[in-house]
Amino acid sequence: MTAEPTLSARGLVKRYGRVTAIDGADFDLYPGEVLAVVGDNGAGKSSLIKALSGALVPDAGEIKVDGATVHFRTPIDARRYGIETVYQDLAVAPALDIASNMFLGREKRLGGPWSVFRKLDTATMRTEAQRILDELGIQIKSITQPVETLSGGQRQGVAVARAAAFGTKAVIMDEPTAALGVAESGKVLALIDRIRGRGLPVVLISHNMPHVFDIADRIHVHRLGKRAAVVSPKTHTMNQVVGLITGALRIGASGEVEEVEAAVHTGLSS
Ligand SMILES: Nc1ncnc2c1ncn2[C@@H]1O[C@H](COP(=O)(O)OP(=O)(O)O)[C@@H](O)[C@H]1O
Ligand SMILES: [Mg+2]
Repeated sequence: MTAEPTLSARGLVKRYGRVTAIDGADFDLYPGEVLAVVGDNGAGKSSLIKALSGALVPDAGEIKVDGATVHFRTPIDARRYGIETVYQDLAVAPALDIASNMFLGREKRLGGPWSVFRKLDTATMRTEAQRILDELGIQIKSITQPVETLSGGQRQGVAVARAAAFGTKAVIMDEPTAALGVAESGKVLALIDRIRGRGLPVVLISHNMPHVFDIADRIHVHRLGKRAAVVSPKTHTMNQVVGLITGALRIGASGEVEEVEAAVHTGLSS
């Protein structure tokens, strides 16, 4: 890769008491790519993504956007840089309609004589929300529908659409298809493809290997709180990626995937 990373991190650390959730993690996201982040449960994928999106403040390490160091204190800080995140524990307001959900936290308000009342510009938000959903190919009966009346896939679609609409630098998604059926997952993957098509890089956390191999340009393998490997779905197999996830395999000094067993036993013999 010759281009400068859009979003990168070096040596990130985050401890919760005795648990080290992020243990010196590195990360690089390049322009226009879909980067899959894979790893076992508890490997620290969500924690890494939270650090990159301002949802947690790391104890150590450095994060850069377009090569410049940033210090995110809250998700709002990351959003200001155009980094939008769809969290694993989906944050939507079920009783509100789709347009309100899409503009949650950045509502448009009427100008002119109405501005003193800080009155919401509902009409504009609805038109905008509809335009975004149309553009992303998300079909919903009515933009005034409360989100609680939507299927899981449609809700996920709204959350992803919100991120895609406001993200200008990167869109990060933590397990967006984990709770979805086959057809709905397919739609989310198509959506990720569209976002990439618009030139916006996407970070996709997933443990679904077929999805990862279907959509990712590169695969970041996270293990024991750090980046263990970066491989390509074009040059590596699903079995190799699974081996890297479990630690049965690693990237050797030559850059090739190798078995770990021999190394584990040296030092034990005397
Ligand atoms: N808020 C928290 N408080 C305490 N421990 C946490 C917290 N968040 C994550 N952890 C711990 O950090 C480790 C990594 O978790 P997480 O980042 O959620 O991993 P993953 O998303 O890969 O499953 C786990 O051991 C988890 O229990
Ligand atoms: Mg997680």
